[in-house]
Amino acid sequence: MLSEKMNEALNVQANRELYSSYLYLSMSYYFESIKMSGFASWMRVQAGEELVHTLKMLDYVAEAGGRARMMAVEAPRFSWDSPEQAFQHVWDHERMVTGLIHALMGVAISEKDGATKNFLQWYVDEQVEEEESSDAVLSKARAAGNDVSRLQAADRELGQRRFKFPRGFEIFPNLAMLK
Ligand SMILES: [Fe+2]
Ligand SMILES: [Fe+2]
Repeated sequence: MLSEKMNEALNVQANRELYSSYLYLSMSYYFESIKMSGFASWMRVQAGEELVHTLKMLDYVAEAGGRARMMAVEAPRFSWDSPEQAFQHVWDHERMVTGLIHALMGVAISEKDGATKNFLQWYVDEQVEEEESSDAVLSKARAAGNDVSRLQAADRELGQRRFKFPRGFEIFPNLAMLK
């Protein structure tokens, strides 16, 4: 059984995961608008992952005897000045989320909630991967700078990323799969 405080903290984090999904979807359409469909596809995969993070957390709340509560999702930024600026934003955002996950872990510890602590370890590990991958794409975008041919090469490369929703979480197809 979740304490009320733990329940609320998980609901708030689920809302932030959904915001992350919304942010990356916004970036995906920004990249579509500047004709960088590989980056757009990469962001859409990223948005899909964040949606899974959201559902996984809300499902846990429900299964642990709590109550999943939906909240308003903040509107994400709409436009960026360059691919590099957008990828910098991803990296900054992921580092901020890592801080939120660690704070949430702190709540589980102070609530003496071992089950939630175990559950949250998955998110801790996931953030290590998220920071690593966003650092790698930022380095690529930074190296390309405003060089159009290098940006196009990076766009093609990132467009190769594919995502399979984990079993039970199959939701919507990747834009690239529709083309
Ligand atoms: Fe996430
Ligand atoms: Fe993330």
